[in-house]
Amino acid sequence: MGCFSLRPLLLLAFFLPLLLLVECRVRHYKFNVVRRNYTRLCHSKPIVTVNGLFPGPILYAREDDNVLVKVTNHVNYNVTIHWHGVRQLRTGWSDGPAYITQCPIRPGQSYTYNFTVTGQRGTLFWHAHILWLRVTLHGAIVILPKLGVPYPFPKPHDEVVVLLGEWWNSDVEAVINEALASGRAPNVSDAHTINGYPGPMPGCPSKGEFKLEVDPGKTYLLRIINAALNEELFFGVSQHNLTVVEVDAAYVKPFSTNTIVISPGQTTNVLLHTNQGGGGRFMVAASTFLDTMIVAVDNATATGVVHYKGTTDSVATTFQVSLPSRNSTNEANKFIESLHSLNSKEYPAAVPQRIDHSLLFTVGLGIQPCPTCMNGSRAAASINNISFVLPTTALLQAHYFNVSGVFTDDFPAKPPVAFNYTGTPPTNIVAANGTRLYRLPFNSTVELVLQDTSFIAPESHPVHLHGFNFFAVGHGIGNFDPKNDPKKYNLVDAVERNTIGVPSGGWTAIRFRADNPGVWFMHCHLEVHTTWGLKMAFIVDDGKGPNQSLLPPPSDLPTC
Ligand SMILES: *[C@@H]1O[C@H](CO)[C@@H](O)[C@H](O)[C@H]1NC(C)=O
Ligand SMILES: *[C@@H]1O[C@H](CO)[C@@H](O)[C@H](O)[C@H]1NC(C)=O
Ligand SMILES: *[C@@H]1O[C@H](CO)[C@@H](O)[C@H](O)[C@H]1NC(C)=O
Ligand SMILES: *[C@@H]1O[C@H](CO)[C@@H](O)[C@H](O)[C@H]1NC(C)=O
Ligand SMILES: *[C@@H]1O[C@H](CO)[C@@H](O)[C@H](O)[C@H]1NC(C)=O
Ligand SMILES: *[C@@H]1O[C@H](CO)[C@@H](O)[C@H](O)[C@H]1NC(C)=O
Ligand SMILES: *[C@@H]1O[C@H](CO)[C@@H](O)[C@H](O)[C@H]1NC(C)=O
Ligand SMILES: *[C@@H]1O[C@H](CO)[C@@H](O)[C@H](O)[C@H]1NC(C)=O
Ligand SMILES: *[C@@H]1O[C@H](CO)[C@@H](O)[C@H](O)[C@H]1NC(C)=O
Ligand SMILES: *[C@@H]1O[C@H](CO)[C@@H](O)[C@H](O)[C@H]1NC(C)=O
Ligand SMILES: *[C@@H]1O[C@H](CO)[C@@H](O)[C@H](O)[C@H]1NC(C)=O
Ligand SMILES: *[C@@H]1O[C@H](CO)[C@@H](O)[C@H](O)[C@H]1NC(C)=O
Repeated sequence: MGCFSLRPLLLLAFFLPLLLLVECRVRHYKFNVVRRNYTRLCHSKPIVTVNGLFPGPILYAREDDNVLVKVTNHVNYNVTIHWHGVRQLRTGWSDGPAYITQCPIRPGQSYTYNFTVTGQRGTLFWHAHILWLRVTLHGAIVILPKLGVPYPFPKPHDEVVVLLGEWWNSDVEAVINEALASGRAPNVSDAHTINGYPGPMPGCPSKGEFKLEVDPGKTYLLRIINAALNEELFFGVSQHNLTVVEVDAAYVKPFSTNTIVISPGQTTNVLLHTNQGGGGRFMVAASTFLDTMIVAVDNATATGVVHYKGTTDSVATTFQVSLPSRNSTNEANKFIESLHSLNSKEYPAAVPQRIDHSLLFTVGLGIQPCPTCMNGSRAAASINNISFVLPTTALLQAHYFNVSGVFTDDFPAKPPVAFNYTGTPPTNIVAANGTRLYRLPFNSTVELVLQDTSFIAPESHPVHLHGFNFFAVGHGIGNFDPKNDPKKYNLVDAVERNTIGVPSGGWTAIRFRADNPGVWFMHCHLEVHTTWGLKMAFIVDDGKGPNQSLLPPPSDLPTC
């Protein structure tokens, strides 16, 4: 093969910089899923972790590397891991969502994920894709450019992963099970976290906080990840602007901002210039963005600090930061509209110009009958009025081995009935059930308009598509207007991502090329909405060419 094979990469942090200098093609990782007691917010409880770490280990790779991760399950839950944003070209078996591309790794079992990182560089993350385990089972993926290829921005002095998350004092599986039994919304989290730490909170002495020690006059690359379950977040650093350079492992035209908006499932790389001549301690914070006031949120702000070396270590001297309030739609829009693909000669934006499949999907909440629930009904969520029901065998296996009766491929291209999606909701807000997929020929082009509905509450939905990056060509408030809205599309340098927020009471249009055969999940990345059924999958047929078909399944693929 003529290439290095590194195992295991999880050596002391001290050796990592050395390893990253080696041009390597195969990287071996071992992920042992184990329970560990953790204390946050004065509460100690066992949580599910990879290798005992929370957040989990950082997975480093270079563009073009083959990554092998052997996951061994030592806990009493079924587990799968998703490599969020990794395109998995022809390797859907390694994508990870339970019952979509694989059966779970059962207690005591192992499975080796095997994928190659192609045409991507930047920050992504891995997380569990079953139950609500991703709350603590997650970590960063850092994809470096090919050896010798520079960043399209000045080389930073140092790089830091900043993982935003949520913490519940109680057992998170109990939280969602309680909600499903009652039919109500689950309890919101007790704190947000930055690299696992909430920072000082009322009623609880600090158990540590995120602290970034910096030299003055330098540039730091912050790789920011929203690994929270249910909250879109604002993030900022006191008295420092941030230069955004990349989102979802795709470069963007750099722009400066004091606050970023980041949805669960999204990643954002920013440059932080330590230009405060006088030094000091500057607060870093993350807080919720949700502009639907009737939906409960965790309103705790996670805090940490950027600490200039040589400054006295006293909380009292920290410069405070004030983030926008939770309903600051304008602030959020300003940020979202500043995002444009870099679209340079080296990194062109290949926005599909001609469209083969034009789709309109409503996304939103609703109810379903539930005789044992509190009011005889439970909260549900759907796409085109179908609340997706997970099968008991994986869809990709059913597709590959032609197993009938697992799914149908008749997912509707438009809502079954047209109505005023963002107006007064109809009296019947019951959603239908189904395991229905939308079939796409290999290499066809898709335009998908995601339209929020006003059932129960109009709400922002960060929709994540597996297997592809897409271009976000347009968005707006109210109902999508197929006559006039497309005239305003950006078909030149639209931002390229894998997760996009559908605005509360509005719509978002995305375009992508179905050049990856397999079965690809699409769902709201607010975990509560996924649980309630806001999910579906695309089935992309094999092409006729030699490298246009799904590879055969690996021999250790778990069975159901
Ligand atoms: C976690 O702590 C509890 C007591 O709080 C203890 O009973 C349990 O054995 C500990 N578990 C582990 C894995 O250390
Ligand atoms: C990983 O998958 C590739 C095919 O994509 C295969 O050639 C290779 O042998 C696999 N590696 C292992 C260790 O199974
Ligand atoms: C959810 O919150 C309610 C009200 O605070 C509490 O009684 C209940 O125990 C919580 N559920 C879980 C699983 O923590
Ligand atoms: C059940 O009905 C009561 C009274 O109408 C209402 O206050 C409550 O929110 C309902 N609960 C659910 C889960 O819909
Ligand atoms: C941040 O950018 C704004 C607008 O460009 C500017 O007014 C402000 O001075 C900058 N702040 C810092 C700390 O550089
Ligand atoms: C935050 O939420 C808690 C519980 O939901 C509530 O008691 C508290 O008043 C809220 N704080 C603010 C500032 O809204
Ligand atoms: C945000 O909510 C507060 C009160 O909760 C309200 O006073 C304010 O007008 C709202 N702002 C916007 C932009 O809606
Ligand atoms: C859909 O299935 C769920 C169980 O998964 C059931 O509770 C509900 O009643 C069904 N809804 C409809 C509309 O049939
Ligand atoms: C849809 O409902 C909204 C809100 O009530 C209203 O402003 C709008 O005019 C309605 N649109 C149509 C086409 O009826
Ligand atoms: C959704 O499906 C249910 C069950 O078939 C039906 O009663 C309802 O009218 C449909 N609603 C919409 C908006 O299509
Ligand atoms: C997909 O179609 C485009 C446009 O026709 C073509 O340029 C490209 O080579 C095709 N890709 C593959 C993998 O066949
Ligand atoms: C794990 O998954 C298998 C296969 O779907 C299923 O039969 C089993 O009940 C699950 N086990 C647990 C503990 O959920």
